[in-house]
Amino acid sequence: MKKMTLLFSLCALPLFAQSKAPTAVVERGAYLVTVGGCGDCHTPKTASIEPDRARLLSGSPSNAPAPSKPIKSGEVVSSAGSTAFHGPWGISYGANLTPDPETGIVKEYNETSFIKAMRTGKTPDGGSILPPMPWDNYAKMTDDDLKAMWAYLQSIKPVKNKVKPPVRAKKTG
Ligand code: HEC
Repeated sequence: MKKMTLLFSLCALPLFAQSKAPTAVVERGAYLVTVGGCGDCHTPKTASIEPDRARLLSGSPSNAPAPSKPIKSGEVVSSAGSTAFHGPWGISYGANLTPDPETGIVKEYNETSFIKAMRTGKTPDGGSILPPMPWDNYAKMTDDDLKAMWAYLQSIKPVKNKVKPPVRAKKTG
């Protein structure tokens, strides 16, 4: 019996050595990113407002114009592809969640700081993540689920897209 167990372990080894995270974890992450709706705000859209699979989760396109200022106070104006938003907080742009080393979140985040951001709404440098990023919903996810999400985001195609920095509204009163 012992021999059998050893044999199975040895068979499994090369499978796990191929990718950093086991396939089942990456698949779980893909599922969570899908049902979590991350692409709604982080994937650019085609002209017919379909998610652009070629630019999956690559954030607000760097060459797109900023959404205009809402006419009435308290309203929110979004870009056509719903990746950029102008509201009472200022202007925020959906981040590039792909593993592009220069422009993706891997540049500033690792698994630990990603989990912290999703739990606390804080970036690694201590800043607050602006609306409409609904981090307070994702804060309820388990560690394993957030780790799976991170593993999936590491596995997708890196897309070079330098997302514009947010413009914070001046505080009034
Ligand atoms: C309703 C829109 C929306 C949804 C849905 C959304 N995000 Fe975001 N997210 C944003 C915006 C806008 C920002 C940029 C906020 C800012 O500039 O402070 C952001 C920022 C982030 C950041 C911080 C990036 C940085 O530069 O520090 C991470 C990480 C992130 N989102 C991950 C996710 C993940 C993972 C999901 C899905 C589970 C998700 N977001 C769903 C809109 C959204």
